[in-house]
Amino acid sequence: MLTVDQLSVHYGPVRAVKKVSLAVQAGEIVAVLGANGAGKSSILNACLGLAPRSAGSITLDGARIDKLSTEAIVRLGLTLVPEGRRVFSGLTVAQNLSLGASAIGKDRAVALGSLDWIFSLFPRLAERRAQLAGTLSGGEQQMLAIGRALMSKPRLLLLDEPSLGLAPNIVDLIFDLIIGLRKEGFTFLLVEQNAELALDTCDRAYLVMSGAVAAQGTPDLFRQNDLVGHSHFAASG
Ligand SMILES: Nc1ncnc2c1ncn2[C@@H]1O[C@H](COP(=O)(O)OP(=O)(O)OP(=O)(O)O)[C@@H](O)[C@H]1O
Ligand SMILES: [Mg+2]
Repeated sequence: MLTVDQLSVHYGPVRAVKKVSLAVQAGEIVAVLGANGAGKSSILNACLGLAPRSAGSITLDGARIDKLSTEAIVRLGLTLVPEGRRVFSGLTVAQNLSLGASAIGKDRAVALGSLDWIFSLFPRLAERRAQLAGTLSGGEQQMLAIGRALMSKPRLLLLDEPSLGLAPNIVDLIFDLIIGLRKEGFTFLLVEQNAELALDTCDRAYLVMSGAVAAQGTPDLFRQNDLVGHSHFAASG
């Protein structure tokens, strides 16, 4: 479904991503693991046209997307929940969600249908639909960020550190949701510092070190070879 081939990302003279290749098949949950600064966010951001690709290609369903605008990529069914869950703090929960739908120009009727769907997935957001997003707890803001991304009806969701800074019960809720949505046919590419959690959830994982893929395989392979032990990076949580 998504193929990243020999991707490099430069920020000025700094090459943050070095010839990374990875693939996500429809229906999979794929994890990208690695230390702080390894280049994980840069890979996800490049898929949405949000980080400067200096070499390589990115294809969705066999068609190049690496020269498209972010809006065009979202319209094709790929979306990103960025690191740090950037919600619009001065807007309400419902307004934040509507903006997710407007990213692909959905009309109001369609958007309202999706709003009910998001509120059924996250009852806590339904209770707070008129509350300003900036006053939500961290966990509720992460739910809102995921909900807003789902409003564009993506087929493939890129999630950047969904568990960061959240209490264990909220992390469980969010990962249960990811597993539930996968059963409904959604596909996920997931960046996670909590390697244990990621390996419990994913079908396959990639380990990124210093901007390059250092290992890839099933969770069992990662565990058997202690690929995410503390010698490689400190897993949080
Ligand atoms: N906009 C930018 N301008 C300059 N350098 C950047 C920019 N974004 C990222 N970098 C650099 O690129 C490298 C990779 O950063 P990136 O955010 O992709 O890593 P990461 O694996 O997501 O790290 P973390 O786990 O801390 O989120 C880092 O050295 C970072 O300083
Ligand atoms: Mg990051």
